Amino acid sequence: MIGKLNHVAIAVPDLTAASATYRDILGADVSEPVDVLEHGVRVVFVNLPNTKIELLLPIGENSPIAGFLAKNPSGGIHHVCYEVSDIIAARDSLVKSGARVLGDGTPKIGAHGNPVLFLHPKDFYGTLVELEQV
Ligand code: CO
Repeated sequence: MIGKLNHVAIAVPDLTAASATYRDILGADVSEPVDVLEHGVRVVFVNLPNTKIELLLPIGENSPIAGFLAKNPSGGIHHVCYEVSDIIAARDSLVKSGARVLGDGTPKIGAHGNPVLFLHPKDFYGTLVELEQV
């Protein structure tokens, strides 16, 4: 069902500093920040040859990243994103297997303009999993 690793998302307390770390110390190709208001995040995309890293800063009142950063003040891996070809078929299969889909189970449009869903971290070894239809 799952295909490529689309990205690993890392919550950071300071997006400018984190961008500089990836650009200047790790020598990566780093984008300008992009606000994704419906997900409550400002994102910097780090483009690697085989995948992406997304540096996430919470923005707005009820960002889902804010609580994570409160618990992990220096930052941390927030989720991994796997590609699927049919997100509805993937969701239905996962629900049938007993996995919990977050929210009402309706895909939302993610940071790349594609439908996404999130799966409960307790069902996947403590890791929040995002599925993106690509
Ligand atoms: Co993501």
